[in-house]
Amino acid sequence: MEKSKSEIIMSFLKKRRSMLAAKLNDPGPSKQQLDDIITAGIRVPDHGRCSPWNVKIISKEGQKKLGKFLSEIFEKNNQFEKKEQIDYWYNRPQSAPCLLVISFNPKEDNLSKIPLIEQKLSCGAFCQNILNASHALGFSAQWLTEWPAYNTEVKKFLGYREVTKILGFIYIGTSSETPKERKRANLSDIVTYFS
Ligand SMILES: Cc1cc2nc3c(=O)[nH]c(=O)nc-3n(C[C@H](O)[C@H](O)[C@H](O)COP(=O)(O)O)c2cc1C
Repeated sequence: MEKSKSEIIMSFLKKRRSMLAAKLNDPGPSKQQLDDIITAGIRVPDHGRCSPWNVKIISKEGQKKLGKFLSEIFEKNNQFEKKEQIDYWYNRPQSAPCLLVISFNPKEDNLSKIPLIEQKLSCGAFCQNILNASHALGFSAQWLTEWPAYNTEVKKFLGYREVTKILGFIYIGTSSETPKERKRANLSDIVTYFS
């Protein structure tokens, strides 16, 4: 029997899985698809219309330059690391055809009305919508922070201020693999009732 639209959507939401960035290959999203993904991203609850999100699309050339920079910083900070580890960071930003950096851009003059935590939650939801939209278009994706998200030099290199919070590097591409199921919390462990 043909599945109803809601069954298809629910099945998608209940089965969604990320794919390791290292397993994301070409093709990545086209310009139009990326616009659609980001458009879906901004369809998140946003108390007070703060738009506390910022997306930086890292071009192919940018991915290469970022990798070179990451490997240099990594080598400087980990002098006794093996060459493979340094090479790993050199290649890391090029793991997938598409790399987005999502940073948190809170509306400072609205903090008395819309607390920081609410603005940050909206930015997290934005990241999740980007993942869902990528998956909905048939791509695979992964949301990572890793050390570069917290490194001041990396922030400066990418053109951010020192105080900017990078909430994620989102890698998007195509994978021929289907990810294995990942253990999830039991509803009975996380749901309580109040009556
Ligand atoms: C804010 C945030 C940061 C994350 N950073 C990392 C990371 O640095 N390294 C990592 O292995 N997974 C990280 N993850 C987890 C992956 O995005 C992903 O959830 C995980 O690989 C499991 O896949 P799933 O989305 O199918 O559950 C992060 C998740 C979130 C929400």
